[in-house]
Amino acid sequence: MADNELHETAKALVAEGKGILAADESTGTIKKRFDSIDVESTEDRRRAYREMLFTTPGVEDYVSGVILFDETIRQSTKDGTPFPEYLQAKGVIPGIKVDKGAKPLALADKETVTEGLDGLRERLAEYKDLGARFAKWRATYSITDDLPSDYCIWANAHALARYAALCQEAGLVPIVEPEVLQDGTHTIERSFHVTSRVLDAVYTELFDQRVDVFGTLLKPNMVLSGYEASDRANKDEIADWTLRCLYKHVPPAVPGIVFLSGGQSDEDATANLNAMNTEAPHPWQLSFSYGRALQAPALQAWGGKDENAEAAQRAYYHRAKMNAAARTGSYAPEMEREAVAA
Ligand code: 13P
Repeated sequence: MADNELHETAKALVAEGKGILAADESTGTIKKRFDSIDVESTEDRRRAYREMLFTTPGVEDYVSGVILFDETIRQSTKDGTPFPEYLQAKGVIPGIKVDKGAKPLALADKETVTEGLDGLRERLAEYKDLGARFAKWRATYSITDDLPSDYCIWANAHALARYAALCQEAGLVPIVEPEVLQDGTHTIERSFHVTSRVLDAVYTELFDQRVDVFGTLLKPNMVLSGYEASDRANKDEIADWTLRCLYKHVPPAVPGIVFLSGGQSDEDATANLNAMNTEAPHPWQLSFSYGRALQAPALQAWGGKDENAEAAQRAYYHRAKMNAAARTGSYAPEMEREAVAA
C-alpha cells in the first residue's frame, strides 16, 4: 500500500504537460537572488514572494508540484492558509528540500559531500505531518581535468541512497539530485563521461540500499559543454548526448526525469528539454524541476514591489506554459514573442 502511494505520487509529479517548480532556495541562496534585484531578504518578503508565485492563477495547469524550503513549509498565505495546504487544495503536490547543503569533503581538495543524514528520519516524519509528499536532496560535483574523484562520486551516491531509503520508509517520494556543475571549459564529451560515472554510482547505491526506483524521480543536469567553453554544443547535440547518457544509466523503472536548469538561460532550458521530447517516446517522462529558469523573469518583473505582482505572475505563468509545451516537444521560440504580445 505504502509502495503504491509512492508510485502514484511519483507518476503524478510527472503527469503529462506538467513539471515541478523548485522554490526551495535556502536562506543564503534566496538572499543572492534578492540581492540581484536590490531587495532586502527579510522573512516576510521571502514569504510574500513565494505566495505571489504559488497563487498565480491557472499555473496549476502546468505545475504538478512545488519544492519548499524548511522556512517556507511552515509559512502561510496572508489570509492564514499554510502553504502546503494551499498548494494541495490547488492540486499541486508540496515537497521539501531536506539536505543541509554541500560541505567540503574531508581529505579531498575542492570537492563536496552533501550533509543532512543525522536526524533525517525524525525530520522527514515532521515534514510529512506538515503536508510534504516528496523530498529533494542535491549532491554537487565539479568538472576539471582530474575531478570529480571516485571518492567524491561514491561518497555522494551513498548519501543520496541513504536519504532515498529513509524517504521511502517515511512515505515520501525521494527526488534524487546528483548535479554535475557545468561551469568551466570542458567539452560536452567530458560532461557526458562525468555524468555517466555519477549516474552509474547513484543507481548502484540505490539498488544496494533497497530503494524501490519506481517510487523515485531523478533530477539530473543536462549534458552540456562548459559555460566558459569556446565551442559550445547546440540544442540538438545537447539532446543527443543527454539522452545517450540517460539511456545507458537510468533504469526504465524510474517513472520520470526532472531536469534542473543549473544556470542555463530560461529559454535555453526550455529549448533543450523540448529537443529531447521531440524524440519521444522515452522509457521515462522527461520533465522539468527548474528554479532559476522558471523564476528569473518573474523575479525581475517583481523587483520587490507589490504593484508588480501581477506582471511577475504573468512572467512565471508564461515560463511554466513554455516548459509544459517542451514536455511534449511542441515548443517553438516564436511562442515566446506571441505571449509577450498577448
Ligand atoms: P535551478 O533550476 O536553478 O538549477 O534549481 C534547481 C534546483 O532545485 C537546484 O537544486
